[in-house]
Amino acid sequence: MKNNMNYTGLLNTYAKYPVEFVKGNGFNLYDKNGKEYTDFLCGIAVTSFGHNHPEIKAAALKQFESYWHASNLFEYSGQEELAKKLAERSGLHFVFFSNTGTEANEAAIKIARKWGNGKYEIISTIHGFHGRTYGGLSATGQYKFWEGFEPLVPGFLHVPYNDLEAVKNSITLKTVAVIVETIQGEGGINCASTEYMKGLRNLCTEKNILLIVDEVQTGIGRTGKFYSYQHQGIVPDIVTSAKALANGFPIGATICTKEVGNAIKPGNHGSTFGGNPVAVAAANKVVDLLDEKQLMKIEKLGDFFKKSLLELNLSGIKEVRGKGLIIGVEFAQGISCKEIAKKLLEEGILVGTSGDSVLRILPPFIISETEIAKFNSALKKVVSGITIK
Ligand SMILES: Cc1ncc(COP(=O)(O)O)c(C=O)c1O
Repeated sequence: MKNNMNYTGLLNTYAKYPVEFVKGNGFNLYDKNGKEYTDFLCGIAVTSFGHNHPEIKAAALKQFESYWHASNLFEYSGQEELAKKLAERSGLHFVFFSNTGTEANEAAIKIARKWGNGKYEIISTIHGFHGRTYGGLSATGQYKFWEGFEPLVPGFLHVPYNDLEAVKNSITLKTVAVIVETIQGEGGINCASTEYMKGLRNLCTEKNILLIVDEVQTGIGRTGKFYSYQHQGIVPDIVTSAKALANGFPIGATICTKEVGNAIKPGNHGSTFGGNPVAVAAANKVVDLLDEKQLMKIEKLGDFFKKSLLELNLSGIKEVRGKGLIIGVEFAQGISCKEIAKKLLEEGILVGTSGDSVLRILPPFIISETEIAKFNSALKKVVSGITIK
């Protein structure tokens, strides 16, 4: 059964590429035939420091050799250390550790409702994405993810993105929070304007409701700031983080202000695996590696990458957008970015997609202009040979 590739006992949730990797090193992955791939996807914004990073690996291994799990019934100084670092880097205070982005959002929703003391409505945005569990799914503003799973959790309203008036008009006496991404990653790499984010911050303060910023995809340096809302000079009430935090080990973090976090008491929330010692050890190293110099490099590389994509002058490209190393290339109608991603894979380039028309580029922070040039020449080759339907 093992070698029969027609059989799969895996639930049919993913459209998988027929490629299996056996080794990773830096920005490269290798399949079982020895073919080399350059990683411009990072496991969907996860392995930001590349594969097998020596310092992250050493930190994780050290904890692995000590012990792997004892539960949250006992103290673990690694969690305290990471919480302190995240509080400092986010401008917030309390941290709850979980394992995934959707769990980080579940915690944010629960914390907000507990703080709200009876207020429960949460405003989120159309094309936003917040995860697959029922809270995250209900906050997600895309019907394609809900279809077949309704009824959703009550109390979620979806309004157009980048539209402050729409949020204003949706606030009721029962509103407890607004949840938003600064860049809609899954929704098409749509960027929020500074005016919008600042407006949301002011509006939430004025109406005494919480601003939750979902940094699951944009956080941990991806945009050139530790958290992307720092480009806009605002501080949310709750921030959710996951994906790249431990460079590939499952971890989620929900970070909130002291005032909001004080609403939570022992027993209100929990997670058996949350803040697993090995994941936390890796995360502590990731956060240390993300110093100012590294963040500046990410922003610069991102600007260079976007400019070089535009300079390709490919007729099928409608728009290049994003911030730092989260880049979306929108193609004209009739061009399938899924087909482009598939063809790029044949050229040894891993890349993602956002919907049908946007190529989602999420390279590791360790790439250089050489890898960018390699990507661009492969893209040029693939797009020139693509048929417009
Ligand atoms: C903004 C955002 N929030 C939440 C999630 C869900 O994260 P996870 O898949 O780790 O549950 C994602 C995943 O793509 C995301 O991009």
